[in-house]
Amino acid sequence: MARISQRVHDNVYMFGDLLGQTMKAQRGAEFLEKVELIRTGAKSARRGSQDGRKQLEETLAGLAEDELLPVARGFSQFLNLANIADQYHLMRRRGDDEEPPFEDQMLAQVLERLKASAHCPKDLSKAVSGLDIELVLTAHPTEVSRRTLIMKYDFIAQQLAELDHKELPAAEREKLVQKLRSLVAEVWHTSEIRSSQPTPQDEARWGFAVIERSLWQAIPNVLRHVDSVLREAGADPLPLSAAPIRFASWMGGDRDGNPNVTAKVTRHVLRIARWLAADLYLRDVSQLTHELSMQRATPELMAVIGEETDEPYRVILKRLRARLRHTRTELQNAIAHDLPLPQDIIHNRAELMDPLLMCYRSLHECGMGLIADGDLLDTIRRAATFGLSLVRLDIRQDSSRHTAALNEITEWLGLGSYQDWSEEERQQFLLKELSSKRPLLSKDFQASEDTREVLDTCGVIARAPTESLGTYVISMAGAPSDVLAVQLLLKEAGVRRAMRVAPLFETLDDLDHAAAAIKQLLSLDDYRTRLAGPQEVMIGYSDSAKDAGTTAAAWAQYRAQEELVQVCQQAGVELLLFHGRGGTVGRGGGPAHEAILSQPPGSVAGRFRTTEQGEVIRFKYGLPEVAAQNLNLYLAAVLEATHLPPVAPKDEWRAIMDRMAADGLAGYRKVVREEPQFVDYFRQATPEQELGRLPLGSRPARRRSGGIESLRAIPWIFAWTQTRLMLPAWLGWESALEQAFARGEEPVLDEMRDQWPFFRARIDMLEMVLLKADSGIARLYDERLVEPELRPLGEQLFQRLKQAIEQVLRLTGQEQLFERHPIVRASINVRDTYLDPLHLLQVELLARSRNQEKPCPAIEKAMLVTVAGIAAGLRNTG
Ligand code: PGA
Repeated sequence: MARISQRVHDNVYMFGDLLGQTMKAQRGAEFLEKVELIRTGAKSARRGSQDGRKQLEETLAGLAEDELLPVARGFSQFLNLANIADQYHLMRRRGDDEEPPFEDQMLAQVLERLKASAHCPKDLSKAVSGLDIELVLTAHPTEVSRRTLIMKYDFIAQQLAELDHKELPAAEREKLVQKLRSLVAEVWHTSEIRSSQPTPQDEARWGFAVIERSLWQAIPNVLRHVDSVLREAGADPLPLSAAPIRFASWMGGDRDGNPNVTAKVTRHVLRIARWLAADLYLRDVSQLTHELSMQRATPELMAVIGEETDEPYRVILKRLRARLRHTRTELQNAIAHDLPLPQDIIHNRAELMDPLLMCYRSLHECGMGLIADGDLLDTIRRAATFGLSLVRLDIRQDSSRHTAALNEITEWLGLGSYQDWSEEERQQFLLKELSSKRPLLSKDFQASEDTREVLDTCGVIARAPTESLGTYVISMAGAPSDVLAVQLLLKEAGVRRAMRVAPLFETLDDLDHAAAAIKQLLSLDDYRTRLAGPQEVMIGYSDSAKDAGTTAAAWAQYRAQEELVQVCQQAGVELLLFHGRGGTVGRGGGPAHEAILSQPPGSVAGRFRTTEQGEVIRFKYGLPEVAAQNLNLYLAAVLEATHLPPVAPKDEWRAIMDRMAADGLAGYRKVVREEPQFVDYFRQATPEQELGRLPLGSRPARRRSGGIESLRAIPWIFAWTQTRLMLPAWLGWESALEQAFARGEEPVLDEMRDQWPFFRARIDMLEMVLLKADSGIARLYDERLVEPELRPLGEQLFQRLKQAIEQVLRLTGQEQLFERHPIVRASINVRDTYLDPLHLLQVELLARSRNQEKPCPAIEKAMLVTVAGIAAGLRNTG
């Protein structure tokens, strides 16, 4: 059997040992022995041993009530530590004789290919600096780990890095191991479940911490890497103002279905961002003030100083430092006492950038380019990327809230009910008001609380600096009036600049009509005149998958994008597609590189905007080295998709996809919508109801009360992940593939998989999900938690899963999933030894918790720990 890397294995082993020692120190040798019996039992049970299964089940059954929680914690924490070992493996320093990570090689490879396809070196630098990649960090509640623990995990990863030196003296090594020992003990003695629900401000602070602790370092490192790759390719380095990757955020701005995100919260978060930016620049500039003690400077710089000095750079930097200090103090004051911001703080990016650039030029011109290209260059690049507000905050609100607000307004004005108007009537009214010079509302308009909130939010937007805001995203958008409505509300609040307003198409129906809606919007002359930049359109991956299953949703997303590209080309408007993806396959997730290169040709035209959510933020951007790798990957992939786009699908492939999408949709909806027992089965077989008790995020799990349709996509996926049925990620493919085979389309499917990145990526993702799915585990939930009348439905679902696996094996010509990537198989297998006891415990705890009159805190807590542990083991939440 293939083995995971020896280093990972050694680190995992070491962690197991350290965790074991900690548990023993607290709970005694006998407890540790039980944990060992469970672990070895699970391991041999996975290899098919009946004795192993018996040992596992009997030891678990024999646990005293007060042992349930520590056992769950032990396995859960072990999986977290294993994740650190994996993550560290990605970022560890490579020796001279080792290959650099592939993420760091990709850009050079793409540049080589561009050169080979007749791009001259000069164009290469332009091509990279012209990229506009925006990663939008969201507060989606899919991060199970507490921040306190995440910080400890990061610290553990750092100790691993320090240990990873061949020449380390024994005493040093012992000191580091001692530190690790104490960190593992800290982890063990810290509760993994948050005691209260986070506020949106907490979420925003966590997002800012990722910038402060990781991206602040990663960005200059990435751009240095880009410069060196460009130089090697014979091209110029990037211009100083280049910012091919930037960051935006939804934390404190996304109010869709989250009543806790108010106008006040948004204003607060915008100010916190500016405060932190001032603080971070202050640290940089203070450091530069120490470093830049050089004497020679250009006349330009001396003229600005206007006095005799031996240390001209320090004079300039001290002035900047004083301005930053003042700005930081004033912001702090305004935040603490809820005051307006004074005029005399830094409001303009040039005030930060100009002195830095002047020092840079002067150092170069005076023969000190080497010094200029050190820390000073890094600060300039940070300023270009992060600006004065670190991220651009998006605002998101549900279209129905705008409709309700406008309805209230039109009724108050005596114009009738906006809600009842046809699309045409709505457009007419909105366009007329948009071009009117007088305001729509007078001061005596008394808005309801909901409408006041919508208007206040627009007011916050009006008063915020332009560069601190990104896009206004409208969820559940379907028609041009949804966009015009927001524009009117913004105008009414006094927004005078052009703010990007993006409809989010996120149901199958809306995706199918997206291009028509945008075409109509762009045909409105007044709208076109006001459109200052590109037309942004957001594609909702996970809600469309929840609506239609992944087969039909993936194809609808693809087609919508193709059509949008066409519509915008015809209208002569640039298109900016915003991809709303989650981390898991069911929510449109997958490796970024494959995802970008499987987009329709023409849809990634130098621009790429995507969400990064929850646990993905930690795994991809939590540590500066790993963040740099992921950012490098984005650069390479967007460059490639722009200049070397994937092939367009042949008509025959499209026809097959049309049929598969229809079959997939029917297969999915037959179960999820038409099966009368389905909702009950879902509620009994999965921990869906219990998940709501895990305080993962600031927003409620449902938009409103009701069945599956009211449940948000995240808990929908999360619940099925916990039982390992993973239903939403594959359901529908079994029908789609089966019928395609029955129609004799196998040879064309092979061709599609071979030549069409979109189709290949879909099948690869499907295979990954099916590898993580496990009907043996799902059956345990079924047998213990589901009433007998519903079990036949469970059996039917297991059969469908089996069928899906068979179809994928047939399509990929394998005997078992991931046969060609045994390392992937091995890594899942290793985790199963720790996951299996958690699943068994979870089933038991769910049964006990559901049978209780009054919730028992110990059982509740242990159950939530199993949830967190399984999420850690599978490395995804919802
Ligand atoms: P939403 O996101 O519920 O915020 O629309 C869904 C998801 O990301 O899965």
